[in-house]
Amino acid sequence: MTDQTSADASQPERQPEPRPGSQPGGKPASQAAPRRNLGLRAVEKDDWAAPAATFYEQIGGHETFAKLVDVFYDEVEKDERFRAMYPEEDLRPARRRLLMFLEQYWGGPTTYSQERGHPRLRMRHMPFTIDSWARDAWLAHMRTAVDSLELSPLHEATLWDYLDRAAHSLVNAPG
Ligand code: HEM
Repeated sequence: MTDQTSADASQPERQPEPRPGSQPGGKPASQAAPRRNLGLRAVEKDDWAAPAATFYEQIGGHETFAKLVDVFYDEVEKDERFRAMYPEEDLRPARRRLLMFLEQYWGGPTTYSQERGHPRLRMRHMPFTIDSWARDAWLAHMRTAVDSLELSPLHEATLWDYLDRAAHSLVNAPG
């Protein structure tokens, strides 16, 4: 494994060029060729240097994720056969677990791991028989939830791609 502890991840990968005259043996600044204007001045004080917003922030943070999970579980509650997979009578704790997990995954608060430890989702789903029917029912309810958010096409595709792949990876029973 590469030791990356000496690298400062908060620094941009490329350092700015040394100022003219500042390099050893270089001409004094007064004799140096004038710096070319690279057209960067306008963006230098702009926000290109700020850290990129996380996906969590880009799609609206807590409010958006709370709506996603609420609509999903409202659909689950209406689906008698699928609802039977959930052992608890009160779905509020399950709602909260899924919300915390998704918020953490997409760059929001890390409450899930603080409360539940490593996600280990495959292991945590082992007690439930997840065949293609269960997977598709889960995905159908999640589809309704994602549609309710009215995200931009790119955000929508990013989120859906992940949910679809995750659901397929959790199938643990034939049929
Ligand atoms: C493939 C179909 C799926 C089925 C049938 C299913 C079913 C369940 C059930 C019955 C529970 C127990 C409720 C609870 O105690 O929280 C659960 C928990 C959970 N599920 Fe799923 N699930 C599926 C897919 C997914 C996917 C794709 C994700 C994530 C993207 C996910 C994330 C979670 C989380 C975070 C928990 C709580 C784990 C914990 O901390 O105990 N599930 N799921």
